[in-house]
Amino acid sequence: MNDSPPRTFTVRILRQDLPGKQGYWNEFRVEYEPDMNVISALQKIAESPVTTNSQNVAPVVWECNCLEEVCGACTMVINGRVRQACSALIDNLLKDKAECIELRPMTKFPVVRDLMVDRSRLFASLEKIKAWVPVDSYYDMGSGSRQSQEQQQFAYEYSKCMSCGCCLEACPQFLKMELLKQPDETQEQFKIRLREAVDRSFIGAHAIAQVDLFNMNPIGAMNAGERLDALTAEGGIQVCGNAQNCVKVCPKSLPLTTAIARGGRAATIHSLKKIFDW
Ligand code: SF4
Ligand code: SF4
Ligand code: FES
Repeated sequence: MNDSPPRTFTVRILRQDLPGKQGYWNEFRVEYEPDMNVISALQKIAESPVTTNSQNVAPVVWECNCLEEVCGACTMVINGRVRQACSALIDNLLKDKAECIELRPMTKFPVVRDLMVDRSRLFASLEKIKAWVPVDSYYDMGSGSRQSQEQQQFAYEYSKCMSCGCCLEACPQFLKMELLKQPDETQEQFKIRLREAVDRSFIGAHAIAQVDLFNMNPIGAMNAGERLDALTAEGGIQVCGNAQNCVKVCPKSLPLTTAIARGGRAATIHSLKKIFDW
């Protein structure tokens, strides 16, 4: 068997020209270089976007930013697995599936164009559960409450979430929502419509983990009740079927099953307290 890398390889891309339009496939032949990742393959395609059947086409659109698996912007489905394009090395992909690499946009978010999707829905879930520590004022009020080393370590694992969407792509309960901004709609009207739709749909594992993170923060805990209200509202933690697909695909290895178990317990106690007015 010949172990030397191929001189060229094929990249097969599921493309879409506009939001809501029908997708189609394009194949490109890319010259191999050592240490390439999917982003550098896409850059090579952008330099000369000619398909394998010699068609000149528009350059493929994708999103990226940090190039070190920190921002989550380049998340896409690569050879059937949702992950970041910047950390997907061509050498490894060619080992898995000889000479052809398949790229698709995530399916749970509306496609903006080609491999670029609109992740607003993911951020709207974070807004719903108030994934922040409120600030009283901007005066220097001295150091905040102390947290034990164990708590800090635990919280740190949750804080690694980069809002990439992998957990949502893999989740059977997080359903596809084709919500696009209409031409006659203002940004504000679209945000309201999106908010209403998100309020009804499942918040997702990333948001459940952030409820735990912010509720364990000594200042964030002041709004714990509101977060638990959101966690138990329509589309809350009760929708989770516990299939645990999310934890398997999280690139930052967030303890999502722990978050779901702790969230479930906190939600039950919160609901009982509300029923019995404790
Ligand atoms: S455990 Fe819950 S959040 Fe995770 S994939 Fe399954 S249904 Fe989705
Ligand atoms: S929990 Fe993991 S998979 Fe989900 S958005 Fe955060 S980093 Fe991505
Ligand atoms: S470019 Fe930021 S995670 Fe890939």
